Amino acid sequence: MKRCVLVTGGAGYIGSHTAVELVEAGYDVVLVDNLSNSDELAVEGVRRITGVEIPFEKVDCCDREAFEQVFRKYRFDAVIHFAASKAVGESVEKPLKYYHNNIFSFVNLLELAGEYNCPNIVFSSSATVYGEADVQPVTELSPRKPASSPYGNTKQMCEDILRDTVAVNEGMKGIALRYFNPFGAHPSALIGELPRGVPQNLVPYITQTAAGIRECLSVFGDDYDTPDGSCIRDYIDVVDLARAHVVAIGRMIEGLNKENFEIFNIGTGRGVSVLELVRAFERVNNLKLNYRIAPRRAGDITLIWADTTLANNELGWRAERSLDETLATAWKWQQEVMKR
Ligand code: NAD
Ligand code: WQD
Repeated sequence: MKRCVLVTGGAGYIGSHTAVELVEAGYDVVLVDNLSNSDELAVEGVRRITGVEIPFEKVDCCDREAFEQVFRKYRFDAVIHFAASKAVGESVEKPLKYYHNNIFSFVNLLELAGEYNCPNIVFSSSATVYGEADVQPVTELSPRKPASSPYGNTKQMCEDILRDTVAVNEGMKGIALRYFNPFGAHPSALIGELPRGVPQNLVPYITQTAAGIRECLSVFGDDYDTPDGSCIRDYIDVVDLARAHVVAIGRMIEGLNKENFEIFNIGTGRGVSVLELVRAFERVNNLKLNYRIAPRRAGDITLIWADTTLANNELGWRAERSLDETLATAWKWQQEVMKR
């Protein structure tokens, strides 16, 4: 029997890539999104890649009644909750927007999952919960630091909400995946990251600069205590990240989970500096990027990368794409977007 997975935020960057991997792994998928930060073209992209007319429901997960209609219409074995607002800076300016959207949508989801007997929940968490960690690489047991933004706080709160909910709902299981820095696009270039306005994240800023949409990339700081002075992150290919969700869902459906609530780091296990990334992008795509060294960005941590031992051993998952491969898909996608 085919299992059905609800993907909230399914028209978004990571949700759309995950939908493709789920369909390719043999799942039925239903996408829910209010399109507040995405475009229905992404749904079309998922349909074209998979050749499956995947159902899409334009629904706001904060709208309890509308969301409930989705649970009435379909029967879900599992849900992956991507739907959230994710701009760190905006969350500092508009905290209540973030607390409202990210918390209410998740509480609604968990209530409905309980009422409609959907026992397996995957939540999109973030490496942001570690803050500036004392020891690198970070493991799942590294302490969570007080969040430096309302956005980060919602990730910590939702992890706790999931843990507390599965603890008292028999048969319900939850997995929080802590993503490091997702980047790149599907190799078909039919789906990818579509930032609205000026990109806040490094890789879309790089590709838009290479495309001439932005004049110059600012490298925020070259005086950090790192080998080349720029910050270090763990950049994870979005298709590899999407595959981690498929494995997490399978783990719960097959009852392989060891606890009702589990957390996994999803990264490559390798730290890459901003300047290394810029140079790799230039080399792989054979172009010159206009960039300058700029002052540090407020709130940035110096370095973080993942210890992925738990995901490797327990989920049997590991990142497969190289940095170079993914920088090529990121650029291919940017060029495709320019044709639209
Ligand atoms: P995204 O903005 O591309 O996708 C999120 C999607 O959710 C969007 O399509 C948006 O329209 C939708 N959405 C937002 N609020 C909604 C609501 N109330 N109801 C229905 N749909 C709603 O972002 P993404 O990069 O794909 O991120 C997906 C998830 O992963 C988010 O929860 C994000 O916080 C988390 N995450 C992202 C990153 C990253 O760097 N991209 C890192 C760690 C964690
Ligand atoms: C990466 C590095 C910047 C832009 C953020 C969120 C985090 C997570 C992912 C969701 C940093 C540098 C960036 C630019 C630059 N999201 N940079 N010039 O800051 O690691 O994480 O996105 O959970 O919560 O905080 O990612 O892509 O913004 O930055 O030099 O124009 O690139 O300083 O060192 P970050 P990022």
